[in-house]
Amino acid sequence: MVTFTRCLGFLASLAAVGVHGLAYHCADFSSLLVNEAAGITYTDNGVPERFDTILANHGANLARIRVWTAGDYNLSAALAVAKRAQGVGMQLLVDLHYSDSWADPGKQYIPSSWPTDLAGLLPTIYNYTRDLVMAFNAQGTPITFLQIGNEINSGILWPVGEISQTGYGPLSQLLHSGVMGARAGSSTLKTMIHLANGWDLPELTSWYQGVLSVEGGLTLADVDTMGFSFYPFYGTGATLSALQTSMMNITQTYRKNFMIVETDWPAVCSGVALSEPSIPASVPGQETWVEDIRNTLQNVVIDDGENGMGVVALGICYWEPGWIGNAALGSGCQDNLLVDSAGATRPSISMFSLDM
Ligand SMILES: *[C@@H]1O[C@H](CO)[C@@H](O)[C@H](O)[C@H]1NC(C)=O
Ligand SMILES: *[C@@H]1O[C@H](CO)[C@@H](O)[C@H](O)[C@H]1NC(C)=O
Ligand SMILES: *[C@@H]1O[C@H](CO)[C@@H](O)[C@H](O)[C@H]1NC(C)=O
Repeated sequence: MVTFTRCLGFLASLAAVGVHGLAYHCADFSSLLVNEAAGITYTDNGVPERFDTILANHGANLARIRVWTAGDYNLSAALAVAKRAQGVGMQLLVDLHYSDSWADPGKQYIPSSWPTDLAGLLPTIYNYTRDLVMAFNAQGTPITFLQIGNEINSGILWPVGEISQTGYGPLSQLLHSGVMGARAGSSTLKTMIHLANGWDLPELTSWYQGVLSVEGGLTLADVDTMGFSFYPFYGTGATLSALQTSMMNITQTYRKNFMIVETDWPAVCSGVALSEPSIPASVPGQETWVEDIRNTLQNVVIDDGENGMGVVALGICYWEPGWIGNAALGSGCQDNLLVDSAGATRPSISMFSLDM
């Protein structure tokens, strides 16, 4: 009887989770203007349409937009993409690289116009973040989520904030300063810390333990939400079950809402060992992968026992679904896009309307 009652309770909570779903169906289409400038066009069911509109029509409600301190993804470009995204009804997740170009665990270089010592970088990251947030406010496209760095497993603003060179101290202070700048620019946005390898619990655990133990550095209160990348083609450890174990542990330890802010699955792939080999590298496989992540995340809900749902998974972002000309998207797979090479939407575009 006890077992039976507990079983009913378990089923009821599963049903509640299913109804809740994930709030954000997100696409990172930062390359929108670059693609349009290159003359790329898109069709949906044979009808020509702008890519931002296509995504929104299929259910995307959050745009992830990267910002560099120079180049194609500069602030004015990001503001323009933000206006387009808001125009089709999306909220904004802005992804600060704090670099003139790509930042990830293998590279995090100080912008060429910034100071190169900690004393100079602390006020600079504060001002830059504050002023950027205010620029989004000023054009009427306020930021909902702001990433303080992109895939910062190895630190930011190298070598000053590079963990292997200077430990966690400078990194933690720089992140705290960035958060303070964000809060000075907006009282409503949610900060996000973004790490790669969301499936790798030991890596995530040692990172958070290191960063959060610095006097005068990043505090748990600075972190409104946590973001993670989860790709299937950079290592076979990136299984769904490892993701579930990792997210369960991190959410129980830190009790923050979280999001998978980058993922892809190949439509075409040969010569790469994918982390979930039972899912085909195919257009249907793309939707299966995202649906499986959705199901995995929905198992990670923590009920706080007082107000119903406590910590929840907020959403999933598909990374650069329309970047024709760069279909590998940094992977060894040939094509990870949700459109074909002529710009026609694939059936997997409907992943944004999954009940997720
Ligand atoms: C900023 O980005 C836009 C759009 O990608 C590009 O046209 C422009 O040249 C960039 N500006 C600079 C200074 O790099
Ligand atoms: C930061 O901005 C303030 C104005 O709010 C200015 O007085 C200060 O000089 C700036 N500091 C840096 C390092 O840019
Ligand atoms: C999380 O994992 C660590 C080891 O990585 C372990 O020590 C800890 O007990 C786990 N916490 C929870 C809540 O599962």
